[in-house]
Amino acid sequence: MGTNSGTSVRVLLLLFYCFWFEFCVYAIDTFTSTHFIKDSETIVSNGSLFKLGFFSPSNSTKRYVGIWYGKISVSSVVWVANRDKPLNDASGIVKISEDGNLQILNGEKEVIWSSNVSNAVSNTTAQLLDSGNLVLKDDSSGRIIWESFQHPSHALLANMKLSTNINTGEKLVLTSWKEASDPSIGSFSFGVDPSNIAQTFIWNGSHPYYCSGPWNGQIFIGVANMNSYVSNGFRMDHDEEGTVSVSFTTSDDFFSFSLYYAVTPEGTMEEIYRQKEDWEVTWESKQTECDVYGKCGVFGICNPKNSPICSCLRGYEPKSVEEWNRGNWTSGCVRKTPLQCERTNGSSEVGKIDGFFRVTTVKVPDFVEWVPALKNQCRDMCLKNCSCIAYSYNNGIGCMSWSRDLIDMQKFSSSGADLYIRVADTELDEKGNVKVIVSVIVIIGTITIICIYFSCRCWMTKQRARVRRERIMEVSLFERVNVHPNFSDANMLGNNVNQVKLEEQLLINFEKLVTATNNFHEANKLGQGGFGSVYRGKLPGGQEIAVKRLSRASAQGLEEFVNEVMVISNVQHRNLVRLLGCCTEGDEKMLVYEYLPNKSLDAFLFDPVKRDSLTWRKCFSIIEGIARGLLYLHRESRLRIIHRDLKASNILLDEDMNPKISDFGMARIFQAKQDKANTVRISGTYGYMSPEYAMEGIFSEKSDVFSFGVLLLEIISGIKSAGFCHDEHSLSLLGYAWKLWNGDSMEAFIDGSMSEECYQEEILRCIHVGLLCVQELAKDRPSISIVVSMLCSEIAHLPSPKPPAYSERQITIDTESSRRQNLCSVNQVTVTNVQAR
Ligand SMILES: *[C@@H]1O[C@H](CO)[C@@H](O)[C@H](O)[C@H]1NC(C)=O
Ligand SMILES: *[C@@H]1O[C@H](CO)[C@@H](O)[C@H](O)[C@H]1NC(C)=O
Ligand SMILES: *[C@@H]1O[C@H](CO)[C@@H](O)[C@H](O)[C@H]1NC(C)=O
Ligand SMILES: *[C@@H]1O[C@H](CO)[C@@H](O)[C@H](O)[C@H]1NC(C)=O
Ligand SMILES: *[C@@H]1O[C@H](CO)[C@@H](O)[C@H](O)[C@H]1NC(C)=O
Ligand SMILES: *[C@@H]1O[C@H](CO)[C@@H](O)[C@H](O)[C@H]1NC(C)=O
Ligand SMILES: *[C@@H]1O[C@H](CO)[C@@H](O)[C@H](O)[C@H]1NC(C)=O
Ligand SMILES: *[C@@H]1O[C@H](CO)[C@@H](O)[C@H](O)[C@H]1NC(C)=O
Repeated sequence: MGTNSGTSVRVLLLLFYCFWFEFCVYAIDTFTSTHFIKDSETIVSNGSLFKLGFFSPSNSTKRYVGIWYGKISVSSVVWVANRDKPLNDASGIVKISEDGNLQILNGEKEVIWSSNVSNAVSNTTAQLLDSGNLVLKDDSSGRIIWESFQHPSHALLANMKLSTNINTGEKLVLTSWKEASDPSIGSFSFGVDPSNIAQTFIWNGSHPYYCSGPWNGQIFIGVANMNSYVSNGFRMDHDEEGTVSVSFTTSDDFFSFSLYYAVTPEGTMEEIYRQKEDWEVTWESKQTECDVYGKCGVFGICNPKNSPICSCLRGYEPKSVEEWNRGNWTSGCVRKTPLQCERTNGSSEVGKIDGFFRVTTVKVPDFVEWVPALKNQCRDMCLKNCSCIAYSYNNGIGCMSWSRDLIDMQKFSSSGADLYIRVADTELDEKGNVKVIVSVIVIIGTITIICIYFSCRCWMTKQRARVRRERIMEVSLFERVNVHPNFSDANMLGNNVNQVKLEEQLLINFEKLVTATNNFHEANKLGQGGFGSVYRGKLPGGQEIAVKRLSRASAQGLEEFVNEVMVISNVQHRNLVRLLGCCTEGDEKMLVYEYLPNKSLDAFLFDPVKRDSLTWRKCFSIIEGIARGLLYLHRESRLRIIHRDLKASNILLDEDMNPKISDFGMARIFQAKQDKANTVRISGTYGYMSPEYAMEGIFSEKSDVFSFGVLLLEIISGIKSAGFCHDEHSLSLLGYAWKLWNGDSMEAFIDGSMSEECYQEEILRCIHVGLLCVQELAKDRPSISIVVSMLCSEIAHLPSPKPPAYSERQITIDTESSRRQNLCSVNQVTVTNVQAR
């Protein structure tokens, strides 16, 4: 200890006081090579949320080193160090060894556990953070060389990531205890399986024991009623290196230290929530026997409400009836009639084409594959491919198909997906004949009644005849889109816009909207956009809505309308505005959104009064929210959507100032492997368009990143990019930022309302990220997932930015030269520029 003995004595004294008085204002959360922890001592994280020390599980006398919740009298261990090597008495210590590793020594001074960092540095510090993470830092560089979050035990805490690398197969998993009284490594583990569509699994050894079903961007669709805990913020992140990780975050700090997930020794995942002074299991993965993976074998479906719980799918029969009747379902079911594909394989016989039957509200089987197809193409895609034996569609994921034996299906009473299973034509007929006749009668009856009803209405009011056009809206949309001469973007699924089938349930009656908005009264007008006006309204149920009414004259608006409905009804994220419905009647085209009371971001940014209410913390959370929304569009939703018109006026703010990206009129859906596309129609907003898009019409994720960078710089500076005339020596906002960045006078760039000293560093970091996003060449710009990591400081060292676009020369996108002189007065409306090629 040498020269440091004075300090350590003081530290020990402090520790002693802590124990003596139980309540200690300055808890010690850190220790270095000069001190150690004895069995009777603990270290406490700064906010005393977590403690680290020695403990014995109930019914055991063995001693382990672990981390547990510190504020609650009923302790709950979330991490154990020496799981397989317990101490037999209270003589153990925790210390930092000479090579900088964290070690546990027993009474004989033998190392029984070590952090095992091979190239550790000599001077390190261990700190227990309020997140429950124990980190070992290099004193000289501050670099984290080891952390307990990277070596998880049985519990998943907020912000902790369990990841699997697709390329290397490297996996970070939770592992269960052997028994409640024995923390040594048990047979169950929990982690992510990233193959195709990411799912989480509990494995028993190497065999799957529980499967959550695919992640749809918000929930795992194989978990019954998962909607209720979307609020706990589960996330699935994909990064550039092929790592897929699952984690959960909570916006509420209280939640983050009173909720965690753990795998039990019995192989169940539990959600554990703190209720007052006790812990309560609020959810568990194994609710019934049906939650055991593959309970009913292949092609068997489990329904906990039936007895027996297993049955074969329609068109299938037990492989071994005798075993099945004994309640041994493991060998599953087999197809009764071969499919047409199988029958005609190799022979010239052409049978009747196969069909599908639907099973509603099910947990979809394992081995799902993702197919780049729209909702209405999903069925055909499956029918055409002989190896496809089932398909399903989910708005967050898109089209899913299965080509391997279907296993691990469960019937839910609500939630879940609709699964379409391929069967031979005869299987459909067999039981269907009577049903078909009945259905035909019912359909004809219904149609007759509907006809009479409509005739009556027509007769009563001629004007109301228009209502019928709602029914044939699809048809009229086709015609009008098809004749539109400029719509010729090739190679894109976006091109299939004319095939879109608007879902019936999205349609809202015109008269309802007239009432809701008081006949589109001026007083309810929220604003005027590029394609029409937006009105505020209230539905009979009291729900507030915003109605975007497209101007009748605009033929262009129609395309955007169809596009927007298609894109937005397929995505759901808390940072994207929600579409409640749409309405077409005659010339009227309307989109109905949730109403967001704080209007759009530009109303705050560029208004000198409102601007003052934006603190840096708020700005940062807005920046982060936009980045997350964009990340969802680009990566996490299965569709891969490029927004193409990101700008301050398209960011709406809810009552808590959470940002929501809106206006998907320009958005394009990309195929999974496509990374850029070309368009002859350039639509976007001056000041936000990346150079390759503005000049050559090439757009990609990176053009959205560019717009995001501009937006970020606008938020920080409070200066509009379009019509920049702030600094006479710079031609654009980007040029201005670049000039100040190189002149080391970035403070001048930051808007006065948030130049709080303590956040200076964070603000500069954001500007740095912004400059990286607006670099001239698309390949230099980071992807949005990297941007999110940079913003959250997960990436410590940012590369130096290269000069941004438009910093040195004038914007040359205009075909009309007159716009040049008018640069300072360009409105922030979306422009569409058709280039002759
Ligand atoms: C502990 O937390 C307080 C407030 O949260 C902070 O001011 C202080 O710097 C922290 N102390 C350490 C050692 O991190
Ligand atoms: C501890 O032992 C008692 C008595 O054998 C038993 O009832 C209890 O369940 C055990 N607790 C644990 C956590 O194993
Ligand atoms: C550390 O390394 C040693 C030898 O390579 C190994 O026996 C031990 O299990 C490792 N400990 C941990 C905690 O990984
Ligand atoms: C480690 O810290 C001690 C005491 O603070 C110091 O004397 C020594 O030089 C440091 N060693 C290194 C490699 O930094
Ligand atoms: C887990 O696997 C082991 C070994 O294969 C087996 O003995 C045990 O019964 C399995 N546990 C469960 C709950 O299925
Ligand atoms: C169930 O059937 C399988 C396959 O025939 C067999 O291997 C297994 O032992 C049977 N299980 C039971 C509990 O009888
Ligand atoms: C078609 O026949 C070939 C060989 O005759 C066989 O390998 C293949 O699996 C068959 N395909 C199907 C779908 O049955
Ligand atoms: C049919 O489906 C299989 C499995 O999903 C896939 O590998 C194959 O490429 C598909 N074939 C065609 C022609 O799409």
